[in-house]
Amino acid sequence: MGSTGLAAPSGDVTAGGGSRPPGGGRVIVLGNEKGGSGKSTTAMHVIVALLARGFRVGSIDLDARQGTLSRMLENRAAYGTASGRALSLPEHRRVARVEAATRAEAEAAERVALDAALRDLRGLDFVVIDTPGSDSFLSRLGHASADVLITPLNDSYLDLDLLARLDVQGRQVLGPSLYSQMVWEQRQQRALAGRAPMEWIVMRNRLSHIDARNKRDIGRLLELLGARIGFRLAPGFGERVIFRELFPKGLTLLDLPDGKAEGISLTMSHIAARQELRALLQAIALPLGNNLPGDDATKSSSELARQPKQQPTGSSGRSKSF
Ligand SMILES: Nc1ncnc2c1ncn2[C@@H]1O[C@H](COP(=O)(O)OP(=O)(O)OP(=O)(O)O)[C@@H](O)[C@H]1O
Ligand SMILES: [Mg+2]
Repeated sequence: MGSTGLAAPSGDVTAGGGSRPPGGGRVIVLGNEKGGSGKSTTAMHVIVALLARGFRVGSIDLDARQGTLSRMLENRAAYGTASGRALSLPEHRRVARVEAATRAEAEAAERVALDAALRDLRGLDFVVIDTPGSDSFLSRLGHASADVLITPLNDSYLDLDLLARLDVQGRQVLGPSLYSQMVWEQRQQRALAGRAPMEWIVMRNRLSHIDARNKRDIGRLLELLGARIGFRLAPGFGERVIFRELFPKGLTLLDLPDGKAEGISLTMSHIAARQELRALLQAIALPLGNNLPGDDATKSSSELARQPKQQPTGSSGRSKSF
């Protein structure tokens, strides 16, 4: 978790033909240089939600050293076997950082490894990529592959600092941060390479119910920032213990049966969390098929589809500047 303090990568990740072979499915990347913001947890939920809708899903763990997503999937496979439950799994790949004599060699080898993983998964409908909570060449390559980038953000000024520099009162946006600039550069590189624009979605995670004023202030700043640096906001998850309880079994909110099972009783908090997940999936405009397990039975998918769609805010990024 957190920055590794490694040397900054050399930068141009799209040189040499880009990191996405043609003909692949939609690539969803979870990214944020800040550790512990909920990338792996959200990746896992997006993967299982897509599988539940019958899509063929691949996943890539670019944080192979920490390996949280890989561990969650291993736990899920083991728990499925032990409990006799048919738990759906994606086609999974791990791509690790390479140690080599020179940085150029290491970067070339990392590019080859990610390209190979993406080529393996090319026939699938979606590929979900989890990235580490630090800047690295591999992480940049992952960002350059994104059709959709989802950035989970904890509700604090510290996390906001990742996206933009604020004035000392935390009221005005002074300019973009290094992470926003990196995303902006990847978008420009994509545009220059003639590839479809990347859509950037920021979701607030671990929202606390206590500090309403802080929540409102950060919400206002995020609206400002979204318009300025080209992301749109999606609703995220509240701070809920259930996410930590699910990890050892590799389960998601979607796997929780109604009533008491899996050693966990379904509570109002879990139901609210599933509603938050559904709202997130809608906001990131994943195709609305059948109801997800645990969806509110009073709302059909067609009712959900009729709900007004959020308009992307400057999501093309093609010629947008700070
Ligand atoms: N909404 C939430 N409520 C409570 N706990 C959460 C929530 N979201 C994530 N967590 C917990 O926070 C911790 C960090 O989450 P996660 O591993 O998904 O973050 P990450 O961004 O992938 O971290 P890293 O940068 O280290 O890879 C985990 O223990 C997870 O269970
Ligand atoms: Mg992680």
